[in-house]
Amino acid sequence: MAARPSGPNGFPVQLAALGKDYGHFTALKALDLSVHPGVSLGFLGPNGAGKSTTIKIMTNLIRPTRGQATLFDIDVRRDPIRALSRVGAVIETPEFYGYLSPLETLAYAGRLRGMARKDIRARSEEVLKEVRMGEWAGRRIQEFSKGMKQRLAIAQALLHEPDLLILDEPTSGLDPRGMAEIRDLIKSLTGRGRTVFMSSHLLGEVQEVCDEVALLNHGELLVQGSVRDLSRGSGASTFQATFLAPPSEEDLSTLASTPGVQALKRVGDGAVDFTITGGEAAQAEVLEAMVRRGMRVTSYRPLGSPLEQLYLDRIQESDRI
Ligand SMILES: Nc1ncnc2c1ncn2[C@@H]1O[C@H](COP(=O)(O)OP(=O)(O)OP(=O)(O)O)[C@@H](O)[C@H]1O
Ligand SMILES: [Mg+2]
Repeated sequence: MAARPSGPNGFPVQLAALGKDYGHFTALKALDLSVHPGVSLGFLGPNGAGKSTTIKIMTNLIRPTRGQATLFDIDVRRDPIRALSRVGAVIETPEFYGYLSPLETLAYAGRLRGMARKDIRARSEEVLKEVRMGEWAGRRIQEFSKGMKQRLAIAQALLHEPDLLILDEPTSGLDPRGMAEIRDLIKSLTGRGRTVFMSSHLLGEVQEVCDEVALLNHGELLVQGSVRDLSRGSGASTFQATFLAPPSEEDLSTLASTPGVQALKRVGDGAVDFTITGGEAAQAEVLEAMVRRGMRVTSYRPLGSPLEQLYLDRIQESDRI
């Protein structure tokens, strides 16, 4: 399925200085964020960052205090029906009627959306297959696990062939297997011109599923970029080395002046954490410097991925302010 042509700027999602206050509390400051067609964006942030608030504004469940959310160039406040006509969303795991089957549930959802009866039937079978629930089409939902209900919720969101799928924490509350299934499913839904906007507080999940990440904390965007670029990391990374014998003070002061070493500290049982800038070449230099000094290195490994480090650094930085 190719992306349908979009309006003047062609962004499925464009948020401009979007803000939300709950009484005196500012949950969202002034968020600027655009998502290109066909991209899957992970909207990442810790609890309380403002992810759900943003998504609720985008889907017209709450009003923004300031700024504007446009979907396919249509202002959500001004024309919600048209703005959301190309959007499918799963905000919270919806409550389904247990005595209905997925087919009956989708028939009802399709009628609410004003779809023609014959389209509903055909699309229902298609989307249930797409979420790998084809064999459960006629079963009672009360027999379903949470993960199956979440897949049905995604099927329901896909029923009218939306070009943009918005998911708020699609794996929350699922067990590890359920999480893995939903992640696989979302991965299989991306591409084919479909844009995905998915919130998560799990970095690994975003790394696995999404092309791009936008990092939010305290209602502010800290960074947005491609997962690949950010994973490669241009900033500092932390490496931990362990030794056969604890390093001496002299060893440490020599290593501290090795090019690329921004900082080092002794941790625990004779291990040393290095903060290294200058990418892989510098990381190799540090190891070489240790070996040159005759230090017997038993392990040397990165602590977390560069993206993980970026995440932690940026979150920490913004928490300090
Ligand atoms: N209706 C409300 N009234 C008052 N405060 C609210 C309301 N909804 C959210 N908040 C507050 O706004 C902030 C952002 O909440 P939001 O639900 O958008 O965060 P989130 O990023 O989705 O977090 P989580 O990962 O926990 O789902 C939080 O501090 C929350 O307590
Ligand atoms: Mg939330």
